[in-house]
Amino acid sequence: MRDRPGFADAVADRVWRAFWKNKGHPLSLLTGLVRESFGAGPIPTALVAQEDDTFIGTVSIIACDEATRPQYTPWVAALWVEPDYRRRGIGAALVEKAAALAFGAGAERVYLLSGPNRRLFYERLGWSVLETTDDGMFILSREA
Ligand SMILES: CC(C)(COP(=O)(O)OP(=O)(O)OC[C@H]1O[C@@H](n2cnc3c(N)ncnc32)[C@H](O)[C@@H]1OP(=O)(O)O)[C@@H](O)C(=O)NCCC(=O)NCCS
Repeated sequence: MRDRPGFADAVADRVWRAFWKNKGHPLSLLTGLVRESFGAGPIPTALVAQEDDTFIGTVSIIACDEATRPQYTPWVAALWVEPDYRRRGIGAALVEKAAALAFGAGAERVYLLSGPNRRLFYERLGWSVLETTDDGMFILSREA
C-alpha cells in the first residue's frame, strides 16, 4: 500500500465493514489504523491485491491483533478479498505474502486470529491451532 496509497480508503472501508462496524467502531478508527502502515515498516505493512486500478483485496502484518496475548508477535490480520474475486486463490496468496514478509523481517513464528468458519482454510495453508480465546476464536501460528 505504500506504493499505491490511493487504495488506503478501500482498505479501511472493507476492513471496517468486515470486522469493526458491527462492534460500533467508527470508520475513522480504521482510517487511522491503516495510516500506520505508511510508516517505515516492515511492521505494520498493508498488502493490496490489484488488477490494473481495481482494488481486489488486502491483508496486513501487524504487531498485535490480540491484546490478551502481547507475547505473540507479529500477526497476519485484516484479510479481505472482494466478493467477485473469491475462490481463485487470491486470499491464500495474500496470506502467503504476508507470512513471507513477516519471516523476511526476522519473525520466527507468525500468528493469526480466525473464527471457526475459517479455521480449515488456514489449516490447509499450513497454519496450526495454538490456542482458543475466551470468545471462541482460534489463534493459529506458522513457523518460518
Ligand atoms: C476469507 C477470504 C479472504 C478468502 O478469500 P479467497 O480469495 O476466496 O480465498 P481462496 O480463493 O484462496 O480460498 C477460498 C476457497 O476457495 C478455494 N479455491 C481456491 N482457488 C480456487 C479455484 N480456482 N476454484 C475453486 N475454488 C478455489 C480454496 O480451496 C478455498 O476453499 P476452502 O474455503 O474450502 O478452504 C474471503 O472469503 C473474504 O474476504 N471473506 C470475508 C472476510 C474474512 O472472512 N476474512 C478472514 C477473517 S479470519
